Amino acid sequence: MSSNEIDLSEYRRALGSFATGVAVITTVDKNGDRAGLTVNSFNSVSLRPPLVLWSIACDSGACAAFLEAEHFAVNILSTHQRNICEKFAAGGSNKFEKIDCTEGLAGVPILPEFSSVFECKTQNIFDGGDHKIILGQVLRFEDRKTDPLIFYRGHFMT
Ligand SMILES: Cc1cc2nc3c(=O)[nH]c(=O)nc-3n(C[C@H](O)[C@H](O)[C@H](O)COP(=O)(O)O)c2cc1C
Repeated sequence: MSSNEIDLSEYRRALGSFATGVAVITTVDKNGDRAGLTVNSFNSVSLRPPLVLWSIACDSGACAAFLEAEHFAVNILSTHQRNICEKFAAGGSNKFEKIDCTEGLAGVPILPEFSSVFECKTQNIFDGGDHKIILGQVLRFEDRKTDPLIFYRGHFMT
C-alpha cells in the first residue's frame, strides 16, 4: 500500500502492534502555568551524550508551551497509573488538579509517582508532519524500578 492510499484506521491498528511504555511529559511556561500530556512516542536516542526524543501533535493544547520551554520532564508511568495516563490524555487545563507534584530542574513539575523520570533540556525541535519532534538532553534521572505501564494495540497490559 503506498502512502497516498493508506487506510488510516488500518495504519493506526498496525502501528499498535509495537508495544510501548507510557509517559507523561511535563513542563512549565514563562507565566508559571504547567502543561503536560500522555505520550507513547518517547524513545532513547543517544547514550553519549544522553539524548531522548518524543513527538507532540501540533494541534495539542500543550504544543505551544513545549515549543517555548527550555526544559521538560519525562515521567514514565507504573502499572497502577492508568488513571494518570487517562487524565493527561484528556484535553483541558485542569490536568494537574489534585496531583501533588514536586519541582524539578527549572521548576518543571514532576509527578509524585513514576517508574522512572528523566529531566531534560530541549536541544532541538524538528518538523514531523502533523507533529513536532522534540529532542532533549537528559540532565538528571531517577529510577524507582517499579513495573512500567505497557500500551499495546490500544489497550494496557499488566
Ligand atoms: C497511550 C497514549 C499515547 C499517546 N501518545 C501521544 C504522543 O506521543 N504524542 C501526542 O501528541 N499525543 C499523544 N497522545 C494523545 C495525547 O495524550 C492527547 O491528545 C492530549 O493530551 C490531549 O490534550 P491536549 O490537547 O491538552 O494536549 C497519546 C494518548 C495516549 C492515551
